[in-house]
Amino acid sequence: MSFYPPEPFRIKMVEPIRLIDRPARQIALQDAGYNLFGLHSDDVFIDLLTDSGTGAMSQNQWSAIMEGDESYAGARSFFRLKEAVNEIFGFRFFVPTHQGRAAENILAALLVKPGQYIPSNMHFDTTDANIRARGGSPANLVIEEAFDPTNRHPFKGNMDIQKLRRFITETGVENIPFGMITITNNAGGGQPVSMENIRKVSETYREFGIPFFIDACRFAENAYFIKMREPGYGEKSTLEIAREIFSFADGATMSAKKDAIVNIGGFFTMNDETLYQAACNELILREGFPTYGGLAGRDLDAIAAGLREGVDEDYLAYRLGQTAYLANLLLDNRIPIIEPPGGHAVYVDAGKFLPHIPQSQFPGQALSVELYIEGGIRACEIGSVMFAYPDPDTGDMMFPKLELVRLAIPRRVYTQSHMDYIGGVFAKIAKQKEKVKGYKFIYAPPMLRHFTARFAPI
Ligand code: F0G
Repeated sequence: MSFYPPEPFRIKMVEPIRLIDRPARQIALQDAGYNLFGLHSDDVFIDLLTDSGTGAMSQNQWSAIMEGDESYAGARSFFRLKEAVNEIFGFRFFVPTHQGRAAENILAALLVKPGQYIPSNMHFDTTDANIRARGGSPANLVIEEAFDPTNRHPFKGNMDIQKLRRFITETGVENIPFGMITITNNAGGGQPVSMENIRKVSETYREFGIPFFIDACRFAENAYFIKMREPGYGEKSTLEIAREIFSFADGATMSAKKDAIVNIGGFFTMNDETLYQAACNELILREGFPTYGGLAGRDLDAIAAGLREGVDEDYLAYRLGQTAYLANLLLDNRIPIIEPPGGHAVYVDAGKFLPHIPQSQFPGQALSVELYIEGGIRACEIGSVMFAYPDPDTGDMMFPKLELVRLAIPRRVYTQSHMDYIGGVFAKIAKQKEKVKGYKFIYAPPMLRHFTARFAPI
């Protein structure tokens, strides 16, 4: 029996949720073309689609919102956020953006030229798409252990330094405008990167004169994993660890919807003044004046408060403990997952769980549909629906290595009984899993098709 850490907060305001009955769930799903993105949220009981922008803000954040200064330029809110960003990240400059991908867009717009390459451990899909949109090619150089779901490597998000060196020499520094690393590695199971790895990645980039940017969405969870798992960091505070992480980089893109526990917002922060000036110009064109960046003043205040709460160690112990608790419930029921569990989500190995469904019939989609039918739970397929595409040369279908279903846990939203409920639904599905059937597309757009595709059961 695993330990559930008591929440370091109590509940002052509640949002009702309800479980509609099974026939109603079946109708809702048919109407949505068996795509969970097509459901009305009112028809979802427990929503694990994403941990992004779905967190519960604190009384501190709500009261900070009341202090928001809505001045077009030079708002007090901007300077409060600047102070918080500076305290944690320590770069010389920063601009707010409406969310993470807007920061990525600015970075890619300013630095990526057609034909260039951007290495990382693994790019998240919006970063990947922003690089491609500028004619660049993202390269994923994570360690091989990341692809073995049962390998309990403590830092499965690490970059393979040998692969990185080879990549740089073969590609040529002139074709690499900057390098990245994503902490934690969302596309690879929410797995952390060690400080040692971040340092070595930084040394490698610096040796070749390549600027280094961190995709920092879940930096606080990553920092707490370092505190828990990496020798020499147990006595350091998460804040000190975060500052050390960023000291190795030249800048960062941030989606505040994750570890700053807000419903909207992000920023781009950097040391290079010329880049900052160019970012301001790009920002004015697409997001807004550099002291609000597409957000309201009150949003900036909520981010400032949330950034500080996000590195609070009582909160992080609860946060990562809750994820581990759900992971253990699933393991107790012999549901295969990516081990050890990451920070923000549990990733179920649907390919292994439903071996009778071939990749061409989308085992991850089948499991996601089953979770909704059985328990009103909404999860996200991360498998062939998202990533299988025909080879441009041969036309053969190329399938991803893993067929996963992500159970992303919103911050400070669900309780232990919700986690127990999810475990119970999995146990029921496991008992009759041979009956779960595959799916086929009846409509699929050419790109990012998981959002709008429609399916039929086979
Ligand atoms: N980088 C990572 C690692 C992310 O996980 C996300 C978003 C982004 C960048 C983009 O940030 O959404 O604010 O534009 N991830 C969400 C998810 C959508 O569900 O994992 P954004």
